[in-house]
Amino acid sequence: MKIETILTPTELPALAQRDLRATACVVFDVLRATSTFVTALYHGAKAIIPVSEIAEALAFKKSEVGSQKSEVILLAGERNGMRIRAAQKCDRHLACPEQAGSLSHSDIDFDLGNSPREFTPEKVRGKTIVSTTTNGTRALRACVGAKTILASSFLNLSATAESLRREKAEIILLVCAGTGENPADEDIFAAGAFCEILLDGKSAATLSNSTEIARRAYAQARSNLTAAIGNSQNGRRLLAIPALCDDVAFCLQRDIFPLIARMNPNGAIRLA
Ligand code: MLT
Repeated sequence: MKIETILTPTELPALAQRDLRATACVVFDVLRATSTFVTALYHGAKAIIPVSEIAEALAFKKSEVGSQKSEVILLAGERNGMRIRAAQKCDRHLACPEQAGSLSHSDIDFDLGNSPREFTPEKVRGKTIVSTTTNGTRALRACVGAKTILASSFLNLSATAESLRREKAEIILLVCAGTGENPADEDIFAAGAFCEILLDGKSAATLSNSTEIARRAYAQARSNLTAAIGNSQNGRRLLAIPALCDDVAFCLQRDIFPLIARMNPNGAIRLA
């Protein structure tokens, strides 16, 4: 077994040049995309379709308007952590609205933001959710073409590791989605914790330097993970927003949703 880890989102574009057909990718966006997607599946969502841009999400919804399917599609996502609303001009790549005229924009309020606590059974049961977030959906889309693509978080860490053991995955790529263009401590800690479970004390694995970095980071932080993640860039940002501050503790719960979230070749994440 060989385990490699992508620590920062700037490494994602290079994946397009790689042959991932024998690789199992595990994507972590602990705060909050993969935590939210796992929660939605646990609460009965039919599928989550991650897309990179607001325009793509709108196109999905508009393509279903008038059909029976339109009422079962929910738009979800965030920019700057907040639910996407009408006249949301900027997409991720822009610093300021003035430039946004020619770019994708939202002319409707999205149904949901990116807080896992919004994705209740009443809201999501039976629904297909099209989501665009700052980093998580981008990281998932970057893995397209891989043999296996799993969305993981602390909420479903052990179930995800167990599924790779059952699959006898030999080439594993852990993908830390990051925050903006920066690495995210919380994703690296989750990748390190994932390795610990997957290896289960065995040394019969080849670990890349980046995987060793993730393991060491988790080993140092594990005794007080809440404080360590609360000090991360994304943790601090969320803790400063009253409506979102409870998301941090929610996303740090270990193995409360023992499920496997697999992104299929058609781009939809479903229960495996
Ligand atoms: C991301 O995709 O970068 C995060 O999920 C952002 C967020 O949820 O605030």
